[in-house]
Amino acid sequence: MKAWLLKDFGLDNLQLGETATPTPKAGELLVKVGAVSLNFRDKAIVDGIYEPHRVPKPLIPVSDAAGTVVAVGEGVSRFAVGDRVNSHLYSRWLDGMPASDEPDYCFGSPLPGGLAEFMIIHEDSAVRAPDDMTDEEASTLPIAALTAWYSLVDYGQIEPGQMVLVQGTGGVSIFAAQIAMALGAKVIITSSRDDNLDAVIKLGAMAGVNYRKTPDWAAEVLKLTDGKGVDLLLEVAGGEGVNASVQATKVGGKIAQIGFLTGQTTALNLMPLIFRQTTLRGIAVAPRSSFDRMNAFLDTHHIRPVIDHVYAFEQAREAYEHLARGPFGKVVIKVS
Ligand SMILES: NC(=O)c1ccc[n+]([C@@H]2O[C@H](COP(=O)([O-])OP(=O)(O)OC[C@H]3O[C@@H](n4cnc5c(N)ncnc54)[C@H](OP(=O)(O)O)[C@@H]3O)[C@@H](O)[C@H]2O)c1
Repeated sequence: MKAWLLKDFGLDNLQLGETATPTPKAGELLVKVGAVSLNFRDKAIVDGIYEPHRVPKPLIPVSDAAGTVVAVGEGVSRFAVGDRVNSHLYSRWLDGMPASDEPDYCFGSPLPGGLAEFMIIHEDSAVRAPDDMTDEEASTLPIAALTAWYSLVDYGQIEPGQMVLVQGTGGVSIFAAQIAMALGAKVIITSSRDDNLDAVIKLGAMAGVNYRKTPDWAAEVLKLTDGKGVDLLLEVAGGEGVNASVQATKVGGKIAQIGFLTGQTTALNLMPLIFRQTTLRGIAVAPRSSFDRMNAFLDTHHIRPVIDHVYAFEQAREAYEHLARGPFGKVVIKVS
């Protein structure tokens, strides 16, 4: 089969080639990939800054895929040939809290990903792709939408009228804004671009703050919330900005620590965290059970993924370059 192979770190070492088409073992599905979507994780893996010790070489990259089952291994009962499925990043995390070794079983490193004509997904980890979404749309769900959903619902337990802050206008954040608004929350969004802020306000966000023009964006958020701060803040920026996020979150509020766009370490100022009694929780996507609940919610609320651009399979490198520039929503690669 045709596959993109990461032979070493660096985008130049991501090369289109051929490799053996895998055969499904007991319990496994062979999926003809329709589309994949890129997450920051995929770029960070190529750049060698995401758990580099786990990355096998060569690697078929990209975790998030949607496609059609074309063959099944012995004993498969949850799916049949012809069903449309999604991959689920933490392929063994099905419900409850994660085990400590979940990162060993993630697609797109260390398990082979979806940037190839076919991929193997165990039937237990596969999720039925929404009927009313194309493969391009469904491919955006496994990490970006699910991380937003888990942060807002399973962790945040957001209720109508509560205030949510979403950072930036990338994959996770646009889904977070859409889902939070459908839950009845008031959304404040930050972005480096005024046109992106306007676009999210058009979708229904309460307010936007340009974090480039207003470096003290947390003070602006306090002004917008009568000096209180938001109930839940979805942190994708990481780095030293986490201190500003504590400031922008209300006393007793929650931060979902999702990302590390500006850095994987931070000097956390403990006194504000202590005085404000902020809960800061690391988020690692979600279990499969949460994916199923999310799909039902997306269906009920007619939420459609916001796709910035769909690239052809041969243009995979251009898709990565687009992600590096900062997408509005999702960047997708059509595979077949
Ligand atoms: N822990 C998890 O389960 C999990 C799951 C998904 C993602 N993540 C992490 O979350 C982060 C975002 O992932 P993604 O896939 O959504 O990325 P993405 O689609 O590449 O989006 C990146 C966007 O982030 C915004 N941004 C960059 N620097 C920022 C800053 N200093 N403050 C606020 N916003 C900033 C930019 O938005 P503007 O152009 O609007 O400025 C940029 O477009 C990454 O670190 C990723 O690894 C973690």
